Amino acid sequence: MQTEPTQSKNILLLREFVSYLRTLHIDTLEQKWIAIAMMIIAFLVGIITVDALFHGINPPSKVETIDSASVHLSKEFAEDNLGVQRDNSGKIIVRMVALRYSFIPKHLEVPAETPITFRWVSTDVLHGVNIPMTNMSTMIVPGYVAEVTTTFPKPGEYPLLCNEYCGLGHNHMWSTIAVIAKEEWVAKTTATPPALTK
Ligand code: CUA
Repeated sequence: MQTEPTQSKNILLLREFVSYLRTLHIDTLEQKWIAIAMMIIAFLVGIITVDALFHGINPPSKVETIDSASVHLSKEFAEDNLGVQRDNSGKIIVRMVALRYSFIPKHLEVPAETPITFRWVSTDVLHGVNIPMTNMSTMIVPGYVAEVTTTFPKPGEYPLLCNEYCGLGHNHMWSTIAVIAKEEWVAKTTATPPALTK
């Protein structure tokens, strides 16, 4: 809470500043350009607001923390829990660990035309992840879980690259994603393993 004297002092300062602005000479043409620039800014802020409120488009990295030093001991990012998984509701989740200089696992197989939620953590420094030719890109900040949900429209092989400089091996840090037809993926993942022949 501000006290009365500080408030009136601030108002006084503001008034002084406004009257100072009035004394400034701004060319008419310049005023027009200022107005145009302001309108552009308002338009862009408007787009961001509408997307955030009505389309649910937000920055990818949620504020979800994790201890980077003990990622391997965490339940979710333990080694045998990494890779592609389908939860009980049928949602597909991919968990990956980023560390200098690779992503674990090295190769993934996911279905096309299906929403896939990626969750990444870093065990050391700041990494990034980018899948070229898609809109998928995010930072992986140590101490936080980065989450992005995306859909691959058609089958193909995609590289998954680190796009934040993380050290000398940065350009060797990548994995691959094989996007396969939805039906093929379902058949592959639900097929019962063949019985062992003696
Ligand atoms: Cu990891 Cu660059």
